[in-house]
Amino acid sequence: MIDLKTYDSLLEPINAFLQCSTPDAWVNEAKKPENLKTVLIDHLLCELKAGQSAMYLIRKYAVDKSSANSLLDWFKPYEDFAYRKTGSLETLKGKSNISKAIMAKSNSPYSQDLIDKMVLLIKEELHHFYQVLEIMESRGIAYEPVPASRYAKGLLSEMTTHEPQTLIDKLIIGAYIEARSCERFAKLAPHMDKDIAKFYVSLLRSEARHYQDYLTLAEEIAGKDISERVNYFGKLEAELISSPDNDFKFHSGVPA
Ligand SMILES: [Fe+2]
Ligand SMILES: [Fe+2]
Repeated sequence: MIDLKTYDSLLEPINAFLQCSTPDAWVNEAKKPENLKTVLIDHLLCELKAGQSAMYLIRKYAVDKSSANSLLDWFKPYEDFAYRKTGSLETLKGKSNISKAIMAKSNSPYSQDLIDKMVLLIKEELHHFYQVLEIMESRGIAYEPVPASRYAKGLLSEMTTHEPQTLIDKLIIGAYIEARSCERFAKLAPHMDKDIAKFYVSLLRSEARHYQDYLTLAEEIAGKDISERVNYFGKLEAELISSPDNDFKFHSGVPA
């Protein structure tokens, strides 16, 4: 049995930030052996999407032209694998690092801090992608694309359409997705076999930092109190998690 006590201080702010905890019914569904394939493939794709959304964010707001191209090149092997079924664990090995420096465009009002935090986050998400794929291979689970759940779409659809609020909303949503993922890995770890449990626990630290980085960036860029907006998305997020959902996925609601 996995002991999560050492992670109490890490999970405490996450649990305080989230407006509801994962329902037991979701945990019971997720631990069923017949759902392992869905849990792993959806997790794999979530890691890619986490990396992509950070990548598109800095492409849009912060980086210079040549860095924007380097970012696309960085993702290509992962996207080829996920969307075009080319490549393998072998061809993705060691690809989670980017060799080129990612630089801010000269007229960007956002700091190199945004870029640095997001580039580190992307590296980690791409490494997680590789790690999930390793686990899938070890279980003989072949990759096949699965459609995304309602969760991220439900949050993103409530984003404001004017800047700089759109960027701030996007960062707040990023914080919620990271925080929920972290909470779910902790909830699920005690019910999984030893290797997967160990892997989930190893993810807690980075996902907790991703949540914190998104929230800090949202506050910094807003330059004012954003608690009302945070609360707004918190309510929406809790609604997606605690309402019935017949599409079981990593971020789905209560199994209907
Ligand atoms: Fe991740
Ligand atoms: Fe993350």
